[in-house]
Amino acid sequence: MSYDDITIDSLIEKGSFKWTAYPGTIGAWTAEMDFGVAPAIRATLEQLDARDLYGYSTPALMSDMAQATAQFYSDTYGWDVNPEWVSPVSDVLTGMQAVLSFYTEPGAKLVLPTPAYMPFLSMPKLHGREIVEVPMLRNEAGAGSAAGAGSGSVEPAWSMDFEAIDRALSTAGADGGPGGLLVLCNPHNPIGRVYTRGELEELSRIVEKHGARVFSDEIHAPLTFTRHAHVPYASINEAAANHTVTVTSHSKSFNTPGLKCAQIIFSNDADVATWSTHGMFTGKSAANPGLLAAVAAYRDSRDWLADTSAYLERNRDALPGLLERHLPQAVYQPPEGTYLAWIDLSAYDLGDDLTSFFVDRARVSIIDGALCGEAGRGFIRLNMGTPLPILEKIVERLGAAVAGTPVAPVGEGSA
Ligand SMILES: Cc1ncc(COP(=O)(O)O)c(C=O)c1O
Repeated sequence: MSYDDITIDSLIEKGSFKWTAYPGTIGAWTAEMDFGVAPAIRATLEQLDARDLYGYSTPALMSDMAQATAQFYSDTYGWDVNPEWVSPVSDVLTGMQAVLSFYTEPGAKLVLPTPAYMPFLSMPKLHGREIVEVPMLRNEAGAGSAAGAGSGSVEPAWSMDFEAIDRALSTAGADGGPGGLLVLCNPHNPIGRVYTRGELEELSRIVEKHGARVFSDEIHAPLTFTRHAHVPYASINEAAANHTVTVTSHSKSFNTPGLKCAQIIFSNDADVATWSTHGMFTGKSAANPGLLAAVAAYRDSRDWLADTSAYLERNRDALPGLLERHLPQAVYQPPEGTYLAWIDLSAYDLGDDLTSFFVDRARVSIIDGALCGEAGRGFIRLNMGTPLPILEKIVERLGAAVAGTPVAPVGEGSA
């Protein structure tokens, strides 16, 4: 079945998190896709049952997962990862908590370019960590609507404020001096940037100058669109390898976040040594279903990924036309990676709570950009990992809500 044929009713009936959290709405908020999973992943879960692999995660599966991850990184990004330096972890956020606990000093601050993935703003605070938000620089010229969709030739709408990052790291250490942890999200949720090698090199120079560390979240890397290339941050030079812990997962791009398996990739001996003493519990937090799915994804589902990525790219390139028709004052630049659209609706003056506005009036659930930091106020994050006919309905509904036209909830018969 083509993704185009998946209906709203069938998605409601499946009852996923994205489609049930806000009843009566089209789910376009949390990062799940509506396309199911690759056949190899389904097949491996049947194996799980046939082999009764319901016990604790096995060393053999952990090793298979590490090999498959290393092979994928080598084949896809040209970074030769030592499989022995790949550890399982249940999910990327658990990996981040491990990085905070084991690789930074208590009291070291997090330097976070914003807009940022929402939990990066809230979770570290639970560990008593201060977050220094560094708003990204906005290039108005690169932020046109339909202009240059996917051409790769347009100036990016957002770029790192290197000077501000430099300043923030100069006082982010535990003692108030240089240090701290820079949170790098590449591809960047929610803005969709895929950073160039030049940008990453500049970042590594600044981080190294302050003796700081980097948590590099590359969960969206397999969904990097044509004309852009994902460069693993730790691969760019020795300094970056020495100051970085990379955490990634197949779970976004192959659509398996509920199977709970991510990967920590180490890139220096010292961090591996720390992990061998401190990571013994966290390193066992992924379970057999996720480990099996990681192998099936990275090793056996690359065609599925290519097809799905091409479909998402088509959605991405359809969005400017849809916005022009239904929300002509929206400002949007197509993402370079991820299936997330980051749309500036500030011209419409829709109030302080865009989630409630669109849930109540459009019957579409989106993420209010303000949850991604002050720099995101007035924006929405829209999940495009849905069939194109549904994406069309979503934008039509958003436009109707802004125009004040009543919109009915979705449910029986709305497909
Ligand atoms: C950038 C980023 N990091 C981490 C996560 C969460 O991943 P996990 O479920 O593996 O913790 C997400 C989920 O959408 C994400 O977009």
